[in-house]
Amino acid sequence: MSLLRRKTIHAQPPEQQLARTLSWPHLVALGVGAIVGTGILTLIGVGADRAGPAVILAFVVAGAICACAALCYAEMATMIPASGSAYTYSYATLGEVIAWVVGWSLILEYSLVVSTVAVGWSGYAVGFLKGLGVTVPAALANGPGLGGVVNLPAVAIIALVAGLLMLGTRESARVNTVLVLIKIVTLALFVGVALPHFDAANLHPFTPYGFGSPTGAGGVKYGVMGAAAIIFFAFYGFDAISTAAEEAKNPERDLAIGIVGSMLACTAIYMIVATAAVGALSYMRFGSSPEPLALILRELGQPKVATVIAAAAAVALPTVLLAFLYGQSRIFLVMARDGFLPQALAKVSKRGVPARITAMTAVFVAVIAGLAPLDVIASLANAGTLCAFVAVAACVLVSRRRDPDARRPFRTPFAFVVAPLAILGCLYLFTSLQVRTQVAFLGWNALGLLVYFLYARSRAEIARA
Ligand code: ALA
Repeated sequence: MSLLRRKTIHAQPPEQQLARTLSWPHLVALGVGAIVGTGILTLIGVGADRAGPAVILAFVVAGAICACAALCYAEMATMIPASGSAYTYSYATLGEVIAWVVGWSLILEYSLVVSTVAVGWSGYAVGFLKGLGVTVPAALANGPGLGGVVNLPAVAIIALVAGLLMLGTRESARVNTVLVLIKIVTLALFVGVALPHFDAANLHPFTPYGFGSPTGAGGVKYGVMGAAAIIFFAFYGFDAISTAAEEAKNPERDLAIGIVGSMLACTAIYMIVATAAVGALSYMRFGSSPEPLALILRELGQPKVATVIAAAAAVALPTVLLAFLYGQSRIFLVMARDGFLPQALAKVSKRGVPARITAMTAVFVAVIAGLAPLDVIASLANAGTLCAFVAVAACVLVSRRRDPDARRPFRTPFAFVVAPLAILGCLYLFTSLQVRTQVAFLGWNALGLLVYFLYARSRAEIARA
């Protein structure tokens, strides 16, 4: 039964306490900063390629599933306002071995999002620099998978963001708020230019590959669900707010506002951007572009606006890196406190941030970003996130049954409908991922369980003693 032992959450000793500096506007900004990124800027093209104009429906499906998951996160985050997100909720509710699997899957989510977005950023930055007459050699702009040696811009941007995080959380939150505003204005500019060109003829045929996820060449899954499994990437990030629980001034109220507020705001933004994109130009002309929004604007005869959008993307995309690198370092921090990683890593610096663990995380994600191809890491990140979302929805159900009278500052409305919908939706999205992604996810967790039984389990015993 020790596999299912649960953790009691209590206050941290002073040397491991984080500074409480964030209020709800910071948290909504952290959420929007984490959510709006490579998904809407780049993967909208991949989604359109796989679903046609019905990529709009893929946004609806992925958004609805994420909305259910967001409500579950808001309940758990306000009930257990401690760092560690899904890993901590699972440890307190579902038991140690499940928490380990969730923590191990969260490494896929947080680390691989940072690596993916850094690679996506590198694409924009290299293109933008080329426009200014500065050419980055191909060998230094791509990892070995694409014929290069290392993706140097991706490594550099991770180093920059990690440095900022090590300066302090409040400083990072301020910079984040400014960059989030730039990102929103950029998308508004795109909609303002593209929407007047809306032509209903571009929406026909609306679902060229149907609704399910039929498998095409190379194992790629098409159709609305095949696209939704990728578009899912665009929506998560609201969960990163829950990792800030120990740094929120008023966690019970502010976390719920931050999680649900940022999720709703982003869903509205995405619906408008996706409609403007597929309405302005046939999906076949921008589907495979690495910079679809800029391409649409150029095709509409607006090259200057396209350049502005590319520049703004390069400036503002790092907010996603910031939020996820922040989230990953906090999750590693809690795992170290629990004995799963060396205790020395959990030390908080004079500025109130876990500097060692931030540096360790940055090195880890920079190596992946420097070497791995984008599509592989993005879909693996999705698989890890789906696992975490299922766990959090299960936590809501189990804790409501086991402890119906516990204090819940935020209650998921219709929890016994919403949480099962989140679980079923996430499982359906998982089956819509490519088979090689599913196998890699299972392999990663098999490795994780090996580490648990050979090393981590006994370490947790020692930390507990
Ligand atoms: N939702 C984030 C993005 O689209 C991960 O970049």
